[in-house]
Amino acid sequence: MTDDLVDRARTALDSAYAPYSGYPVGAALRTADGTVFTGCNVENANYSNSLHAEEVALGRAITAGHREFDALAVASGARDGVTPCGMCRQSLAEFCDDGLPIACDEGDGDVTEYTLGELLPTTIGADTLSAADGADGANES
Ligand code: THU
Ligand code: ZN
Repeated sequence: MTDDLVDRARTALDSAYAPYSGYPVGAALRTADGTVFTGCNVENANYSNSLHAEEVALGRAITAGHREFDALAVASGARDGVTPCGMCRQSLAEFCDDGLPIACDEGDGDVTEYTLGELLPTTIGADTLSAADGADGANES
């Protein structure tokens, strides 16, 4: 079910701009209606400006008006079974539920599939913020 998506992630990593880490990453995010948005990492000489493949794919999808997703695949040029980093897991959790399948290309023909909930068992969400004192902006310090 995610084989095609893994292929799209592998293709996307060919576009990666990763001169500093030498670690190209590709991602393919499928929406509820079956549209696929790809992304690759885009590094910068100011390292902290670098974009991750998953956030590029997510940003492209959101920009096109999508808010519901049903699968993600990631692949790396190192063929080492890359998984989304903590920051990308949190970004995905903003829009995706715990059951989102995440297919990670192991590079040797194998794909390991996780769910977002396995990779990020607890998260900060809108509920977290609304439970806080002053979440309505009335907090005074
Ligand atoms: N990278 C991603 O694109 N996605 C991740 O979630 C893991 C890390 C990129 C960022 C950087 O360009 C390179 O991989 C090495 O960390
Ligand atoms: Zn990341």
